[in-house]
Amino acid sequence: MKKVAVVGAGTMGNGVAHVFAQQGWNVTLIDTSADAIARGMETIKKNLDRQVKKGAGSKEQGAETLGRIKTSSSLDSVKDADLVIEAATENPDIKFDIFEDLDRLAPKGTILASNTSSISITEIAKQTKRPERIIGMHFMNPVPIMKLVEVIRGKETSNDTVKKTVEIVRELEKIAVEVNDAPGFVSNRVLMPMINEAIFCVDEGVATPEAVDQVMKLGMNHPLGPLALADLIGLDVCLDIMKVLQDGLDAHKYRPAPLLERMVAQGRLGRKSGQGFYAYHD
Ligand SMILES: NC(=O)c1ccc[n+]([C@@H]2O[C@H](COP(=O)([O-])OP(=O)(O)OC[C@H]3O[C@@H](n4cnc5c(N)ncnc54)[C@H](O)[C@@H]3O)[C@@H](O)[C@H]2O)c1
Repeated sequence: MKKVAVVGAGTMGNGVAHVFAQQGWNVTLIDTSADAIARGMETIKKNLDRQVKKGAGSKEQGAETLGRIKTSSSLDSVKDADLVIEAATENPDIKFDIFEDLDRLAPKGTILASNTSSISITEIAKQTKRPERIIGMHFMNPVPIMKLVEVIRGKETSNDTVKKTVEIVRELEKIAVEVNDAPGFVSNRVLMPMINEAIFCVDEGVATPEAVDQVMKLGMNHPLGPLALADLIGLDVCLDIMKVLQDGLDAHKYRPAPLLERMVAQGRLGRKSGQGFYAYHD
């Protein structure tokens, strides 16, 4: 039985814990916030129930999956992990501190992966004494549904680490696409400026959120409009990613839309806060 520790129990962390437990891994879900752990476990339970209702597995399998996930408030719990996946807040200082601690606490050969959307894997690796074992494992939201894992190779990531990570992705029945380390990698370098531009359209009165989303769904065949997608991702996460693109690439080209900054300041973060471009009641 393999052991994975997931650091951060928010939108992504609980999804990552869900898919590993479903494949038979023993999971420890770690978060500094007791509330986040409670909400994360509740979300996993709800999503497992939904999968059972849709015929993807039995009630017993759902209960077994849930039984393989334990929780912790301390990074000490990574001491016997075969793999660690960090899915904490998208802030370089928070991630750098976490990786410094993980390097000290996790077994020597353990791969330490980050689910970061945009922060440099090479810079994260510099906080550790095992840069060859640091890699980006960028799951997509919602994790139990989305097939892609963008695998990001830092400057010193070893071939062995990449190979093992790709094997794990395959084991999770997902598809790895390898990319090199650059701000936003590929996914968010392409996606986030589109979301930001959609927010500029609303801010400048070009169209309502509903109209912007309709144009992109009906005209471009996107399954979800950019503003509904921003609500799903979390507007705070979108803003953090724009700041990484701005700092790392071009300050003017990637400046966050003022409306995005205002909404985050007001706590209108999308689905997770109940209100973003749309209102969410459940
Ligand atoms: N939201 C998305 O759609 C999405 C998609 C792909 C990747 N990501 C990335 O995944 C990561 C997590 O994003 P999220 O949307 O789940 O954020 P979130 O805000 O929902 O959750 C982050 C969690 O990290 C916890 N945390 C903060 N500092 C911590 C620490 N020192 N130790 C342990 N836990 C800590 C917080 O309490 C919170 O529960 C980010 O790097 C983000 O860029 C997000």
